[in-house]
Amino acid sequence: MATIGVFDSGIGGLTVLNEALRQAPAHHYTYLADSANAPYGEKSVEWITKRSLDLCHWLVREGCQALVVACNTATAEAIESIRQEMPAIPIIGVEPGIKPAVTQSANHKVGVLATQNTLKSDKFNALLKSLDSDCELIPQAGLGLVPLIESGQLDSVEMNTLLREHLQPFEEAGIDTLVLGCTHYPFLTPLIREILGSEIQIIDTSEAVVKQLSRKLEEFQLLQSAPPRVIRFYSTSDADALVGLAKQLIPTALEQHSIETSTVFIS
Ligand code: DGL
Repeated sequence: MATIGVFDSGIGGLTVLNEALRQAPAHHYTYLADSANAPYGEKSVEWITKRSLDLCHWLVREGCQALVVACNTATAEAIESIRQEMPAIPIIGVEPGIKPAVTQSANHKVGVLATQNTLKSDKFNALLKSLDSDCELIPQAGLGLVPLIESGQLDSVEMNTLLREHLQPFEEAGIDTLVLGCTHYPFLTPLIREILGSEIQIIDTSEAVVKQLSRKLEEFQLLQSAPPRVIRFYSTSDADALVGLAKQLIPTALEQHSIETSTVFIS
């Protein structure tokens, strides 16, 4: 029976877990939030790489047979190293959905909201170079958004002010499509639509990521078709707070699963 490990710097990966539970509910999931160290967005490449490797090794020791790096920043900086160290395990990463965005944009103006590290990474810049498109891409680092999301502030006055500042360059450029290049940001979709207008196309790659996960599970003969279903929530900071937010943010997805929870120290 397959247990799938999903990790993020905090609660952002819940947006991917939500989709995984929708598309592939008949698995065990272990969700690890490194909330003691969030945000990752401005940390050094070396730190993110080492930390991501430590978390992946921990998840495998916990019995996970497939891993989802549910963090754009960790994927950008560390996925190659993780795949090198763990060649026998399917490792699925996430990256900003620039390719679908440029094909879907009608006015050829696409905004990309992501962490500073993702935007600066070689992987992201190689992705930009690989595009054969005349689209104008407007990148914007969402500095300060992740800590507010981590504290559950999805519509506070502070969040409104900060998000409006970050979205201003997109409004000025007149984008019609916005790529959410950080797994935390889909939780801001209602507020983004309020600010940029309901017609804006929002690209979040969770669905595609989980399709890729299912393909890999099939390839590694790990596909599961029946219950039992357990989700273990681990946090390096406060597992009860993590589960509280998960129940608030992705309630429907959790309905069919029994939940276990623990706060852990991972060195
Ligand atoms: N959720 C993450 C991402 O997709 C990490 C954000 C952060 O910790 O700064 O990039």
